[in-house]
Amino acid sequence: MTSDGGPQAGELGAKPLDDAPLYDEPAEEPPSFDVSVAHQARIYNYWLGGMDNYAADRKAAEAAVAAYPGVATGARANRQFLARAVRLQAGEGGIRQFLDIGTGIPTASNTHEVAQSIAPESRIVYADYDPVVLAHARALLSSTDEGRTDYLNADLRDTDAILEQAARTLDFSQPVGIMLIAILHAIEDAEDPCAIVTRLLDAVPAGSYLTVSHPASDIDADKIAAATARLNQLSHQHFTLRDHAGVSRFFTGLELLEPGVVRVENWRPDPREPVNLSAMWGGVARKD
Ligand SMILES: C[S@@+](CC[C@H](N)C(=O)[O-])C[C@H]1O[C@@H](n2cnc3c(N)ncnc32)[C@H](O)[C@@H]1O
Repeated sequence: MTSDGGPQAGELGAKPLDDAPLYDEPAEEPPSFDVSVAHQARIYNYWLGGMDNYAADRKAAEAAVAAYPGVATGARANRQFLARAVRLQAGEGGIRQFLDIGTGIPTASNTHEVAQSIAPESRIVYADYDPVVLAHARALLSSTDEGRTDYLNADLRDTDAILEQAARTLDFSQPVGIMLIAILHAIEDAEDPCAIVTRLLDAVPAGSYLTVSHPASDIDADKIAAATARLNQLSHQHFTLRDHAGVSRFFTGLELLEPGVVRVENWRPDPREPVNLSAMWGGVARKD
């Protein structure tokens, strides 16, 4: 794994889960996995060069890459965006609490590592509904002594349950950085993702932030549509692409930070980082 969360050359063939033990240490209650159907967290892990994936995940991931190689570079661009957005909030934004929903399998520069490198007292709650992420949650609980982290095995659509459990760790009278990084495409229009975002924002005070990244329907449109069709055929979840206007809608009523909703690699790029191209919209906004 490279410092930008991407694979080393040739690492996409890294030793995968089928051949490797699933856990560093045995979990108390091993979750049951249906390894015959691809899952988003494990597909994404494969694109990042990780080893926490199975043959079905790799098949779906490779099928998508064959249609559009930008899905794999986009995964790396998205991780870089996450780290830059957290750095901004923890730095000039003064945010000391984060709620990161759709965490994914731990990789380099997880939200708590970035935030606590700036403010060791930061508190972070992670939530994801994938059993493989749960199995690796221990890596997300490596908090500094001054700070705290927690992991919720929870579904974003059960927003109230997430907010209730997150309150064990976060003080909702103080600003919170809500991170919805590459998750809202897993919520179909019929499930009203804007209403979910609104419920989260209603629970946090002024001074809080919302960060969203989302696969685009209007960047390299034909290719990403073809890649998404393959993912939808081969994986457990349904992926919904959204255009620039659709992603911007999640920030309605908030003060969108410059440069607005842009391709994630173009959001306040760090010239020291390698450039990875994506077909993903991303932005950060503040609640006033
Ligand atoms: C593409 S990964 C993104 C991981 C991480 N946020 C990042 O950007 O690096 C999407 C993650 O969202 C999770 N996810 C999708 N739908 C979800 C839901 N309804 N509730 C909780 N987690 C969900 C998946 O299990 C997966 O781990």
